[in-house]
Amino acid sequence: MSAKRRLTIRGETDAGRAPLEATRYAMEIGFAETPSRMVATAVSELARNILKYAQSGEIELRTVEGSRGLGIEIEAVDYGPGIEDPEAAMRDHYSSSGTLGLGLPGVKRMMDEFSLESTPGEGTRVRAIKWM
Ligand SMILES: Nc1ncnc2c1ncn2[C@@H]1O[C@H](COP(=O)(O)OP(=O)(O)O)[C@@H](O)[C@H]1O
Ligand SMILES: [Mg+2]
Repeated sequence: MSAKRRLTIRGETDAGRAPLEATRYAMEIGFAETPSRMVATAVSELARNILKYAQSGEIELRTVEGSRGLGIEIEAVDYGPGIEDPEAAMRDHYSSSGTLGLGLPGVKRMMDEFSLESTPGEGTRVRAIKWM
């Protein structure tokens, strides 16, 4: 099993590198190309959100084992402003910043498991798993 990998997201360079790191991690574990791409895209969206809404945060990648075999868990954490209305944030095309509003709902669709926890004024935590 691959060790966990922690990606610090503080700037454009980190956000650009995050999906590449995720792809490499998925390949190391033996993920096929399509699910690797989904994990990388999810990481990219979460990194972009961290940068845009919270300025900085962390994304951790870990290998998990379940009844379906191996999977990759993504955990994105920040201590930014949090989300006032998480239900709205999960709706397609909802954006507080005038962008596409497809990031979080897209991550949910691409991954097999998804959870969003956010407390206004405290921060946001997204967890998602893709099974191999
Ligand atoms: N890490 C975060 N911290 C605070 N708010 C967030 C965060 N991630 C997402 N949001 C909120 O959820 C909304 C939807 O996010 P998303 O689906 O990625 O669309 P977009 O980034 O295009 O607005 C954002 O507009 C923002 O209001
Ligand atoms: Mg987004």
